[in-house]
Amino acid sequence: MVYFALFFECKRINIIGMKVINTIKDLKAALSAYRTAGKKVGLVPTMGALHAGHASLVKRSVQDNDVTVVSDFVNPTQFNDKNDLVNYPHQLDADIKLLESCGATFLFAPSVEEMYPEPDTRHFSYPPIDTVMEGARRPGHFNGVCQIVSKLFMAVEPDKAYFGEKDFQQVAVIRAMVKDLKLGIEIVSCPIIREDGGLALSSRNQLLSPEERSNALNISKTLFQSRDYAASHTVADTQKFVEERIYLAEGLRLEYFEIVDGNSLQKIADWKDTSFAVGCITVFSGKIRLIDNIKYKE
Ligand code: PAF
Repeated sequence: MVYFALFFECKRINIIGMKVINTIKDLKAALSAYRTAGKKVGLVPTMGALHAGHASLVKRSVQDNDVTVVSDFVNPTQFNDKNDLVNYPHQLDADIKLLESCGATFLFAPSVEEMYPEPDTRHFSYPPIDTVMEGARRPGHFNGVCQIVSKLFMAVEPDKAYFGEKDFQQVAVIRAMVKDLKLGIEIVSCPIIREDGGLALSSRNQLLSPEERSNALNISKTLFQSRDYAASHTVADTQKFVEERIYLAEGLRLEYFEIVDGNSLQKIADWKDTSFAVGCITVFSGKIRLIDNIKYKE
């Protein structure tokens, strides 16, 4: 019976492509036949406004798993700045086309009421990983990320979940949450995808004016130059190198640049302090807040 249901489900998917689902109940029902048949399920959580960076996560999940669920939900609890939430780009029709071309099985696009039928009062705290850098500047942000990602994990129960390394700290926080809650989900982090000029792909890039976009190219350019510079200079000198270049660049305002241990996210003083050194940066180009990072040692 289960195999018949699964066969029928696969046939239907082949005929009509990816299925869009809006409720947790329907999602669980759609996944249950696959699960009973021992199929591997991959989850790619997103907030929509998809680009080639998301596509790389979806393609990786399609490669690794039998079923790929992509969630598209702009999560209000992770926005500490309400203007940012209001201005967040939406493009569901274009997202659906992109996901179909990548081979996703299900698009889960719930409403706010579906994900938060009542306020989520859970509090997630993983210091120091969630208290430095983005955690220090965006109060409540990672708590909101953990709230929604844990709900998505409960709804989908994936074997693996895929996240982009552009949000380097987010991946570390989610790994800490998975360990804390003993969820047994493998977190797969995928490399940053960049535009031709080097700008890290982000849904926020579409909010940049042509001038802001061109100015923003200096972020990745500086990070790449700093990687060469770091090979023969101290951590403090490399820090200064990046700060000065962003300070001098047209139209950019540095919020922070930190060179940290890639696991603990604590600042390092010497390259010898770690075998995994990452430089994490947040810069405003005009009013648009952009993040990026570079690995100095891995
Ligand atoms: O990285 C994002 O797009 C979001 O933070 C995530 C992981 C989908 C949670 O809303």
